[in-house]
Amino acid sequence: MNQDTLKQSVAQAALAYVPEGEIIGVGTGSTANFFIDGLAGMRERILGAVASSEASARRLAAHGIRLFDLNEVESMSVYVDGADEIDGNFCMIKGGGAALTREKIVSTVARRFVCIADVSKKVPVLGKFPLPVEVIPLARAQVARALSALGGRPVWREGVVTDNGNIILDVHGLAITEPARLETQINQIVGVVTNGLFAVRPAEVLLLGTPDGVQVFERD
Ligand code: A5P
Repeated sequence: MNQDTLKQSVAQAALAYVPEGEIIGVGTGSTANFFIDGLAGMRERILGAVASSEASARRLAAHGIRLFDLNEVESMSVYVDGADEIDGNFCMIKGGGAALTREKIVSTVARRFVCIADVSKKVPVLGKFPLPVEVIPLARAQVARALSALGGRPVWREGVVTDNGNIILDVHGLAITEPARLETQINQIVGVVTNGLFAVRPAEVLLLGTPDGVQVFERD
């Protein structure tokens, strides 16, 4: 079974978490794209969606799903998104697609973060996947020095500009044993917009795609 089939199966399983008649938060990336395509089949049964990127907004709109600005929405039951890595405590690294900041903002408004991931994303310790950090362009070198001082090896993702007009530094070589602490620490660096650790607020539900089927994990 290939990775895309696993992504498709978790995206399909996530449709069961979509409440009827409500607005839902929608993530970004290849797994989220499968979810958006599945959502199209039930578009009459939801009010609409808040997208976490311009790319997801375009895909939702192409399916005729009504888009809402987050500023119009006070709360949502559910946010559905993929991850680059997820650990046993539902803490994640996200931002491989450079959408981390909007993903964090939109997911914050949702009561439940449903993470949809194929089994390759499940790790004992976060950090093998380089940690994306969104940075104000002017602060690139200064932030890179600060990230190096934390023990990482920041690499500028050249040519990539986020939906917010910023750049991404991918931090290699971190073994992240205390993700919530590191998330807070990196966010204190002047010039950092946000970092791709989702640990202060981890996912509530993990739908994990395995060759034996979708496994469901829920945080207490
Ligand atoms: C987008 O910036 C990311 O946070 C994605 O959610 C993450 O990279 C997972 O993407 P895939 O579903 O494409 O693996």
